[in-house]
Amino acid sequence: MNISFAAPSVPSSGALVVGVLEGKKLTPTAASLNKQTDGALERALAVGSFSGKKGELLEIVAPAKLNNSRILLVGLGEPAKLGEKDLQDLGGAAAARLLTSGDDKATFMVDKLRGGKAAPERAANYAYGALLRSYRFDKYKTKEKPEKKPKLKEIKVMVEDAATAKRLFQKLEKVAEGVFLTRNLVSEPANVLFPKSLAAEAKKLDKLGVKVTVLGEKEMKKLGMGALLGVAQGSDREPQLLVMHWEGAGAKGGAPLAFVGKGVTFDTGGISLKPAAGMEDMKWDMGGAGAVVGLMHALAARKAKVNVVGICGLVENMPSGSAQRPGDVVTSMSGQTVEVLNTDAEGRLVLCDALWYTQENFKPKLIVDLATLTGAIIISLGHEHAGLFSNDDTLSEQLTAAGKLVGEPLWRLPLGREYDKLLDCDVADMKNISGGRAGGSITAAQFLQRFIKDGTPWAHLDIAGVAWATKDKPTVPKGGSGFGVRLLDAFVAENFEK
Ligand code: BES
Ligand code: MN
Ligand code: ZN
Repeated sequence: MNISFAAPSVPSSGALVVGVLEGKKLTPTAASLNKQTDGALERALAVGSFSGKKGELLEIVAPAKLNNSRILLVGLGEPAKLGEKDLQDLGGAAAARLLTSGDDKATFMVDKLRGGKAAPERAANYAYGALLRSYRFDKYKTKEKPEKKPKLKEIKVMVEDAATAKRLFQKLEKVAEGVFLTRNLVSEPANVLFPKSLAAEAKKLDKLGVKVTVLGEKEMKKLGMGALLGVAQGSDREPQLLVMHWEGAGAKGGAPLAFVGKGVTFDTGGISLKPAAGMEDMKWDMGGAGAVVGLMHALAARKAKVNVVGICGLVENMPSGSAQRPGDVVTSMSGQTVEVLNTDAEGRLVLCDALWYTQENFKPKLIVDLATLTGAIIISLGHEHAGLFSNDDTLSEQLTAAGKLVGEPLWRLPLGREYDKLLDCDVADMKNISGGRAGGSITAAQFLQRFIKDGTPWAHLDIAGVAWATKDKPTVPKGGSGFGVRLLDAFVAENFEK
């Protein structure tokens, strides 16, 4: 999508998008269009149920006396109540309506309004929302009918002080690039995206100044990453440990923030094989790693003044003659041993070594890990919140606030001694499952916590329910959502760049 900003003037072609306030109250531009069309807007408002509530849309096609193809009225509700996320949702909803309407060009008319955010900020957020919604993963569709393909290619945003709007948008656009990178990675099938090819995609971040190093099987063996390697051993694809380092604050910035991602490029379950139905979803079992890669892109592209490391364990979980068996005991990099009672509880085995590596090598200020870790989190929270587990109340509050701000909400669940005990094991230091289904997301988080050193603030985000959108949302078309990128970008911006 080509997005630009300019001073207000009404173009003579394409679609026009204008706001209407709560109670059918026309914005100045809507009022002037109404005049030019001999009252077309008022007539349309009189015959429909559209009342100007936030998010309502009403389309007037081929308006009299204008050469424009259509006028799309967007309900703004009460402007004073519109936060950034609301504005993005409005832009996304308008874009969704126009993408396949037949127009290739749309103009958003952004008026000065009393109350709420200033016009340039509103303009930038409308554009950002529209951009986020316009994403599409269609590279494998070779025979799509033209009328099904989005035609909209260009959005012009008309606003006074267009320069300010443009400057605000430029930062947001970098974050959208990160979100799109994550969505691409999550959408790719596992025959295309596997540990080495995912690492190769991440290496491209060096163009933005991110230092990317990749460890292979040999190096991980040397480091003693027996838990991660146990998962990988059933696959013909070599596992990788992806290490991305962005030093936006330089030496004086001190220890980095660490983001750690689960990157299981396909999860068959291993010898504890998953049922066939729905197994294809497990191509996005690298959603945590995908989010970390997208986040690194966003931070580096907008030159965030922070030091950050992104670390991802990349493996494929396959059953084969070389696969690990239920009952196998592996030794993790931390020295702790694990009895693998279920080879499908592989994410925690991958993460425990990635987490230990992160602490040993970077002594980070804090760690946030992201993982499509448990089906149980979908039972708990559905697709509306990601699960949050943490040993630190401040970190939890910061993450929760960032999630609210960008519309990627988190819900905190408990950790505790009694849950931890469920992992105790007769054979090794711990087992990789608790044995029952009760509290499955919590016991998974407890497992991870056994690999967090005392004094390190840590949060675990279980994103199994949110990494893939099963229906369209205003700024997220169905498919890979990119969940986590905007959340953590905001978390960094709000707490470490101010
Ligand atoms: N990748 C899955 C979790 C998952 C399920 C992600 C559905 C996205 C959608 C994970 O590796 C897994 O298999 N977890 C098991 C754990 C169990 C064996 C203790 C699960 O949730 O069933
Ligand atoms: Mn699994
Ligand atoms: Zn998995």
